[in-house]
Amino acid sequence: MINLPVSKSAWTKLILASVALLMLACSTVEKVSATEIVMYKDPNCGCCGDWAKHLQAEGFTVTEKLSNEMERVKAEYGVPAQLASCHTAIVDGYIIEGHVPADDIKRLLKERPAVTGLTAPGMPMQSPGMQPSGLPPKGYDVLSFDKQGNSHVYHSYK
Ligand code: CU
Ligand code: CU
Repeated sequence: MINLPVSKSAWTKLILASVALLMLACSTVEKVSATEIVMYKDPNCGCCGDWAKHLQAEGFTVTEKLSNEMERVKAEYGVPAQLASCHTAIVDGYIIEGHVPADDIKRLLKERPAVTGLTAPGMPMQSPGMQPSGLPPKGYDVLSFDKQGNSHVYHSYK
């Protein structure tokens, strides 16, 4: 009386459709999480918060994590000591060190080069978070770097 094969294939179709929907939902979530940035900063440093505001204005979500041991955080995430700045951030598997403009991060996430991340070593005076907001970045280089300490100019702000 009950036609098992038909109902079985109906179930299979339903399950396959559900899986497809679930995969679609997951890929959408992944895209959203790509703009989520976790930023480690020293509680006494203010420019990091201003950099976070710049990122938020550019569509990123920033989660702040306070640390009194930023040197250890940097070592943990593979930031070479000579390329260090104040805050250390993580976005979609990449490390962002210091006052890197949002546009460079967007390019990084689009091109996905085989590097550890980007850095703006030191505290460039005309960089997002350091300068009055609204001014373009000027007078410093954003570098890509790897854990071996190699670095290359990624974007030069003349
Ligand atoms: Cu800073
Ligand atoms: Cu800072």
